[in-house]
Amino acid sequence: MTQLVKIAFSLNGRPVETSIPPNTLLIDLVRDCFGFKGTKRSCDMEVCGACTMLLDGEPISSCTTLAVDADQCEVTTIEGVTPASGMSRVQEAFVVHGAIQCGFCTPGFVLAVTALLRRNPAPTDEEIRRYLRGNLCRCTGYAKIYEAIKSLASEANANAA
Ligand code: FES
Ligand code: FES
Repeated sequence: MTQLVKIAFSLNGRPVETSIPPNTLLIDLVRDCFGFKGTKRSCDMEVCGACTMLLDGEPISSCTTLAVDADQCEVTTIEGVTPASGMSRVQEAFVVHGAIQCGFCTPGFVLAVTALLRRNPAPTDEEIRRYLRGNLCRCTGYAKIYEAIKSLASEANANAA
């Protein structure tokens, strides 16, 4: 019989506790047990970024992260950065700049951009490229996504001036 491991962590700002087999992946726990389905699964091998979550504020691939590694940490999914009504400024910028088509990659991008802007509200082109290299989009391309992020960076620069 598989030994279960007890873990406790914060999920989108709420404390949760559960007992799981040690090989449970974070994406399965969050989607199937806690019902946060905004996280997408695609490559299952840490290539596409569709499954991005924030672990203690940093983007990670939840398809290759063991849920036990989230013990005592803060896990954030797209639901956790989406206001109860409306959209976050990152989500709004994606919409305004047409950075979404099918939207499958969008939760992962939004989380990566959210983490980047928390770290540096006015990132350089180089920093943006570096931060987003783990996220792939098959239909929008990257120009619109770039424009969306640049608009947020220029806002931050203008506010700082
Ligand atoms: S599904 Fe996790 S990186 Fe692609
Ligand atoms: S909008 Fe379809 S994969 Fe990015």
